[in-house]
Amino acid sequence: MLELQDLKDFSIHRWYEPFKHIALQTVLLELPEVVVDKLKSDDSDTDVAEVCPVEFMGALKNVINNLDNNAFVKNNWHAPMDAKMFSFGNELKVTNVNDLFLYLTTSNIIAEDFSSQQSSIPFYLALKPWKSIHPASEFRCIVINNVLRGITPRDWPTYYAHFKDEGPLIIDTLTNFFKENILGRFPRKHYIFDVIMSYPDQPSIVDFGPINSKTNLYAFSWREISPLINKDSPEEVAPIFRYLDSDIGIMTKADAIYKIANAFT
Ligand SMILES: Nc1ncnc2c1ncn2[C@@H]1O[C@H](COP(=O)(O)OP(=O)(O)OP(=O)(O)O)[C@@H](O)[C@H]1O
Ligand SMILES: [Mg+2]
Repeated sequence: MLELQDLKDFSIHRWYEPFKHIALQTVLLELPEVVVDKLKSDDSDTDVAEVCPVEFMGALKNVINNLDNNAFVKNNWHAPMDAKMFSFGNELKVTNVNDLFLYLTTSNIIAEDFSSQQSSIPFYLALKPWKSIHPASEFRCIVINNVLRGITPRDWPTYYAHFKDEGPLIIDTLTNFFKENILGRFPRKHYIFDVIMSYPDQPSIVDFGPINSKTNLYAFSWREISPLINKDSPEEVAPIFRYLDSDIGIMTKADAIYKIANAFT
């Protein structure tokens, strides 16, 4: 469960405006209280649709329609990734309001966010144009004490041959992107940001998130990252881009980490 300050700082309704020129395009719709209450009460998707105020339903249909009936949905913080199995073709594509309510009502990730809410932060739906994203183009960037320390592919552990040659370019591009666009503009010292990157385009921000023992750090582990939080960070230090550098077949994350020496010491 996120802390109150985390809920605030990492909610897309807070960070989208200052970063929208470099983020995936998003339409934010505030959820009416009756709908939030229905979602909290663990009801079926039809029950949620029934309590939807007419104007909100109209606005929602309009947004989905404007996104060519081909959208991706999140709440302020999370996507309903665990509802994938209920979707057509195992893709969380939103083609109409029924898809949207089905994903929201079947996802435990979303239910947990809705139930953990005791604060005054309004709930939003964040709708984005559906994008075919190549898994090798997704990276999670780890910022500690306002310094970019680590870059990991989000598709981990998967071997991509081009990471070896393109590694220096990936490091340079993301370091410059971070310094020019994010450093000093995000209200935290420690956080992760997710990007998609496909040359020659500029990276696009997918999300920001807190960094703690529950954060998925993919190629990195909390055990090696957490000590950096209490250390003075060198100002000029290149981030470590960690990727699988050989096709070693199927292995667990624990195996993978074991095989890669701790690079921060
Ligand atoms: N607009 C989009 N269209 C299609 N797929 C998307 C879109 N945005 C994100 N995805 C896919 O969904 C995945 C999860 O998205 P995202 O990182 O925004 O969710 P999240 O709930 O914040 O995840 P986490 O809990 O890991 O931070 C991404 O890795 C990407 O593959
Ligand atoms: Mg996220």
